Amino acid sequence: MSEIYSEIIGVGSYLPEKVLSNEDLSRMVDTSDEWIYTRTGIKERRIAADNETTSDLCVKAISEALKNANITPEEVDLLVIGTITPDLIFPATSCIVQKKLGLKNAVAFDIQAACSGFVYGLTVVDAMIKSGKYKTAVVVGAETLSRITDWQDRTTCVLFGDGAGAAVVRATDKKTGILSYSIKSDGNYVDVLKSTGGPSATKTSGTIYMEGKEVFKLAVLRMPEISKEVLANAGYTTADVDCFIPHQANVRIIDAALKNLDIPEEKVVKSIEKHGNISSACIPLALSIAVKNGQVKKGDKVLLTAMGAGFTWGAIFLEY
Ligand code: ACO
Repeated sequence: MSEIYSEIIGVGSYLPEKVLSNEDLSRMVDTSDEWIYTRTGIKERRIAADNETTSDLCVKAISEALKNANITPEEVDLLVIGTITPDLIFPATSCIVQKKLGLKNAVAFDIQAACSGFVYGLTVVDAMIKSGKYKTAVVVGAETLSRITDWQDRTTCVLFGDGAGAAVVRATDKKTGILSYSIKSDGNYVDVLKSTGGPSATKTSGTIYMEGKEVFKLAVLRMPEISKEVLANAGYTTADVDCFIPHQANVRIIDAALKNLDIPEEKVVKSIEKHGNISSACIPLALSIAVKNGQVKKGDKVLLTAMGAGFTWGAIFLEY
């Protein structure tokens, strides 16, 4: 029997309408466009409307991805959503999305791996497709981080935003799609980047707490390290990468990764300026933007890498 591969056949994304600029933020906390832009590369972020939830953002991103992939909702047999801002503690946001989109033949579940949520999701989906039981999956990263942001804390509120990105993944017997991946976690860092609340530990919902310098130091090490590992495992080097899509947390982290990996500037996707850090949504959103503007074309070799709270981190090397 021939080996099964998983290929991305369509992507989609959605950003809420409301724009919050650095100038807007400078009227809310003691900050400036100059400070935010030079330290992070962010100019603006999007904020979900009061009545707009994470599942609503998912519906918009998935609908676009299904249309681009020419797949009907009935064909989807697996839905995996990475999010740290679910609509409710339970049921899973993916089940809410399943109902809203009529994905009646799918098994749906959420993954909580913070900024690595999409990379973890794609990895899990690849394994489930390789099992031979699933044929057409949807993987999503979606967040309404504005709901867990402390808008009085200038050290974090300037960084985050809301949005969603989705990919339709299908089984194929051609050697294409996901060629190699690696995901890791290290629970020793649980207190460096976390929510200050939760139903069991504090009985509150909490806001984002981050020791920025610690996260920065680890991100610039771990993302290049795991990227090299997945390339080597597939028998490739960074010279084979047509497009590099790192997690969009900070443009200085992206630039450090580029330097470490010796990937030229024109091969990277940097979309952070327009949307900030949207945790799990960053990579599928950046991929969707790159496909729309022609930076990623069918057959291109694409390297994805992310790191987030936990810590969790991972990389995927794929042929688009
Ligand atoms: N506006 C103005 N001044 C500020 C602001 C602000 N928004 N925030 C902090 N400052 C001040 C600080 O109070 C400090 O002042 P002090 O020297 O008087 O104490 C000064 O600016 C420098 O602060 P640092 O925290 O040292 O600034 P740094 O250069 O480390 O940049 C940043 C902070 C941008 C958060 C950086 O550490 C970073 O990007 N870390 C990575 C974390 C990240 O991106 N996390 C996202 C989630 S995790 C992930 O996705 C990987």
